[in-house]
Amino acid sequence: MNLLLFGPPGAGKGTQSAFLVEQMGMHHISTGNLFREAVSKKTPLGVKAKAFMDAGQLVPDEVTIGLVEEVLAGLGGKSFILDGFPRTVPQAEALDALLSKMKLKLDKAVSFEVPREALTRRLTGRRVCDKCGAVYHVDSKPSKMAGVCDNCGGAVVQRKDDQEDVIRARLEAYDKSTAPVKEYYSKKGSLTEIQGTGTEKEVFERLQTSLRGN
Ligand code: AP5
Repeated sequence: MNLLLFGPPGAGKGTQSAFLVEQMGMHHISTGNLFREAVSKKTPLGVKAKAFMDAGQLVPDEVTIGLVEEVLAGLGGKSFILDGFPRTVPQAEALDALLSKMKLKLDKAVSFEVPREALTRRLTGRRVCDKCGAVYHVDSKPSKMAGVCDNCGGAVVQRKDDQEDVIRARLEAYDKSTAPVKEYYSKKGSLTEIQGTGTEKEVFERLQTSLRGN
């Protein structure tokens, strides 16, 4: 099964992707993670993406689409989850063209519905491991030892773009450029909306129910 997880910053796409990977062994394609890795390695892609990410703006479509094409081409038939892509209507159109060229199909697009105040709370309190990428929250999911990852002992830090002014810019970018993508999948008849509030496990149960087609 090939899936697209859709929603604003902080909706829980990365958290739910991790559950799906654990349970179904799918390949997780997060353009945000791929860009962060490229930034930390200072690759040409990272150099191009950094200023946009730091400002909470979207990386240009041609850069992002090229990156996803490369990853999809290397999957060798493994099922995948797209997280954070597509984020503009031109990206969604390019994805359709890529999938058809590669004879692949998207089975479902799932949109997580979370009120704006909750998104801001989730993002300002989020912490991530700088080594393995595990995601924490200072209130709802703290690491056992402050600043140390439970999984790998790496440093648990705040993402640079989780500062309030950058969060505001990311939410604006979502409203302006990404929200129309939801309409795009809705018109195609492949969109399912699920409530993204409640505990992470409750959201995962809803997600599983929706994937079973109930
Ligand atoms: P990206 O990394 O994709 O960021 P995002 O979409 O803003 O999504 P987030 O990672 O912030 O949120 P999430 O929905 O994954 O939430 P999470 O599960 O972590 O992109 C970063 C940047 O890269 C972009 O700004 C842009 O510059 C660039 N970029 C990426 N893709 C691009 C594209 N396609 N085109 C152009 N540019 C692109 O959860 C958040 C927090 O909430 C965590 O602390 C978690 O513990 C907590 N939480 C999760 N679920 C729950 C719950 N049910 N209850 C309570 N807390 C919860």
